[in-house]
Amino acid sequence: MTVLQIMSAADAQVLLRTTDADAIARELAPHGVHFERWETRETAPGDDVLAAYADEVARISETGGFRLVDVVRMRPDDTDPGWPELARAAREKFLSEHRHDEDEVRFFVDGRGCFYLHLDDRVYAVVCERGDLLSVPAGTRHWFDMGTRPEFCAIRFFQEEDGWVGDFTGDPIASTIPYLDELLAPAP
Ligand SMILES: [Fe+2]
Repeated sequence: MTVLQIMSAADAQVLLRTTDADAIARELAPHGVHFERWETRETAPGDDVLAAYADEVARISETGGFRLVDVVRMRPDDTDPGWPELARAAREKFLSEHRHDEDEVRFFVDGRGCFYLHLDDRVYAVVCERGDLLSVPAGTRHWFDMGTRPEFCAIRFFQEEDGWVGDFTGDPIASTIPYLDELLAPAP
């Protein structure tokens, strides 16, 4: 389920929660954040997902000036004793507030992940799922949570080889806002 939850940055009070894709795009657009949904294709593990979405990938690359595109996958492997640590380390990497010199653009082929955008005195948590594309503008303070059991496949777009280095702000705000697992937990 794709979700936008807007919260106060000061105390995480929920100001708006919606699962409506049009409403999500509308709320984000004034901040220069682009959200759109793509018609999804059936892809199996091992399929070339870049080929499956070739037309959309070409359009985004051209309009955004992206020269590099790749695919990132995280999938639980309970047969691998090292997987929990691998998942924890991957999750930790961008779980604190940071910014980048270029736009961070992701299309979710499968699974889910949550972008938290710190815009003025609010935090916009966007849970992206299969079929969702989100573009976080360069310089936007944000963090990303893949959850305690990461499972997703996403197409990433880059402008430069080293454009996606994280500039961490040192602000501990991420630890004061509900993480992905809590955001999706059923209300008590
Ligand atoms: Fe980032």
